[in-house]
Amino acid sequence: MSDTPIPPVDLRAQHEAIADEVLAGFAAVLDQAAFILGPAVKDFEAAYAAFIGARHCVGVANGTDALELALRAAGADAEAEVLLPANTFIATALAVLRAGARPVLVDCDPEHHLIDLEQAAARVTKRTRFLMPVHLYGQMAPTEQIEALARARGLTVIEDAAQAQGARRRGRAAGTIGRAAGTSFYPGKNLGAYGDAGAVTTDDDALAARVRALRNYGSEVKYHHPEIGFNSRLDTLQAVVLAAKLKRLAGWNEARRTAARRYDELLADLPAVTRPRTLAGNEHVFHLYVVRVPNRDEVLERLRADGVGAQIHYPVPIHLQGAFRHLGLGPGSFPIAEKAAGEILSLPMYPEITAAQQARVVASLRRALG
Ligand SMILES: Cc1ncc(COP(=O)(O)O)c(C=O)c1O
Repeated sequence: MSDTPIPPVDLRAQHEAIADEVLAGFAAVLDQAAFILGPAVKDFEAAYAAFIGARHCVGVANGTDALELALRAAGADAEAEVLLPANTFIATALAVLRAGARPVLVDCDPEHHLIDLEQAAARVTKRTRFLMPVHLYGQMAPTEQIEALARARGLTVIEDAAQAQGARRRGRAAGTIGRAAGTSFYPGKNLGAYGDAGAVTTDDDALAARVRALRNYGSEVKYHHPEIGFNSRLDTLQAVVLAAKLKRLAGWNEARRTAARRYDELLADLPAVTRPRTLAGNEHVFHLYVVRVPNRDEVLERLRADGVGAQIHYPVPIHLQGAFRHLGLGPGSFPIAEKAAGEILSLPMYPEITAAQQARVVASLRRALG
């Protein structure tokens, strides 16, 4: 039906594809009463580590915790400055604060909206210890520059891979290029659970062991707590969902790329719309398909009136959020991120989106732009 609303993501369609497998998996967990760190968690961790090519995956309660625990396990403390982009979801910066460290924000490049590594290099001080690139919207930040900067200045790289499950750059996957990475399995992510979930991935045996302890009250041996930890375990039922979805993730990511190409074609004759660019060498997984348009707020309103579930990721950069006013960075601090925040628009994007739905999205956008 042509006037059925088009959602930003369609989680019901995905559930239909895996419902039988998930329900059978849930039944097995209930049968075993293996609710906390049951066998399904270990199985999923092994499968996800293999999928991205990391030695370890440690399942945790959500992506924010994953980033915090990765930073803590890598030795973040109150002395540490952490470089991260100003245009990211708030959780990247919150994780730094929660790990007790100091976020140092950096602008992005105007084409791909990925962290500006020249500016990052200029902001390195004696206290800078971590570099936290965000693989934003589904493509990896430029790993060559990240590694060069980290090597030159002795920085530890912790990737925010929450939006990039399955993304690759020159043969390496998101979540495998830093000392560790945090990812989120929030339901709307490319690999999404049926509630909150996340994971830390790493090749570092000691760091993985540390995250395993930190997620479990700082304990490796039951009732023995050599350090302060947290309760942040990946829920066993969520692991069942994630394992079922992981088997389909490569195909779903391919479907997202096909949908992105279709949007590219449909938008080609709309010069007012700036289409997303893929950095050379990247295999994008289009967690989001983000265009830039003039009069964005008006355009968004019109799309929504047409039943098109467009969104903004994100309308307010980190430094202009009330939560980060203590950084003392006003408007004008990161002009590229600020300009982008006023123009970006995420069009509906999910593996099951149909050509007809995409045509309707673009027809609505065309009308909105006049
Ligand atoms: C870039 C980024 N970092 C971190 C997170 C935090 O993940 P979570 O919502 O699972 O805590 C998200 C997703 O919400 C994200 O998009």
